[in-house]
Amino acid sequence: MNDWSARQYLKFEDERTRPPRDLLAQVPLGRAARVADLGCGPGNSTELLIERFPDAEVIGLDSSPDMLRQARERLPRCTFVEADLATWMPGVRTDLLFGNAVFQWVPDHPAVLQRLLRALPEGGVLAVQMPDNTGEPALMLMQEVARAGPYAGHPALEHAARGDLPTPGGYYDLLRPLCTHLDIWHTVYNHVIAGPAGIVEWFKGSALRPFLDALDARQRETFLADYTAKIAKAYPARFDGKVLLRFPRLFIVAVR
Ligand SMILES: C[S@@+](CC[C@H](N)C(=O)[O-])C[C@H]1O[C@@H](n2cnc3c(N)ncnc32)[C@H](O)[C@@H]1O
Repeated sequence: MNDWSARQYLKFEDERTRPPRDLLAQVPLGRAARVADLGCGPGNSTELLIERFPDAEVIGLDSSPDMLRQARERLPRCTFVEADLATWMPGVRTDLLFGNAVFQWVPDHPAVLQRLLRALPEGGVLAVQMPDNTGEPALMLMQEVARAGPYAGHPALEHAARGDLPTPGGYYDLLRPLCTHLDIWHTVYNHVIAGPAGIVEWFKGSALRPFLDALDARQRETFLADYTAKIAKAYPARFDGKVLLRFPRLFIVAVR
């Protein structure tokens, strides 16, 4: 997949930074010496970790050079490393592994979460948030557009959609045997967006990327026009012309 775009992702920085704030609020650590921000992106979630644990050694890791460039610019005193969560292992005595909006992109992430949790010392915390929105119109319409018109049968599009997350019960069975405390919850946000085109812009920074990466420039234009028309129908304007983007997210806090 092509590299992420920090600029596109940050168009909705306030909205995208609310879930990591809500996740961090539930991390039951008074102090921490070592903290890792997994899939740190442009450093927005890393900044929250530094504010909460000003004395800790906080590192950010990500697989995207563009995201890391932006993170280093934003937080020049912090250490950022390029790494793939599929294989990365935390250093000894890491107190907190914080992964906001990243594990939905990592193949077989439940096994990766188990591996990371096992690597924590007693009392260490794994805190994770993932979008649980594959049943929402915004995501289902990406597949509907991909299956229609000139793109039908395009092999790369067939694998562009993210799979559904396991259920909370599934995560409980996988993680509870490895920890002393496990908290799993959902929050449904209703983001106020200027209009349907804003919803398209939002997803160009995340779930639309694998679809758009599979197409050439001309196909991409047609795809986006078709998708925008469908989004406008699925997300009707409120009294002031704005639209509400309903966005369910799953949160997990596990204490080793
Ligand atoms: C949606 S952004 C999240 C950014 C930030 N943590 C936040 O809270 O807004 C997801 C990030 O995960 C990174 N990512 C995706 N797959 C990864 C992997 N296998 N290993 C490391 N980082 C990954 C992407 O490069 C991207 O920067």
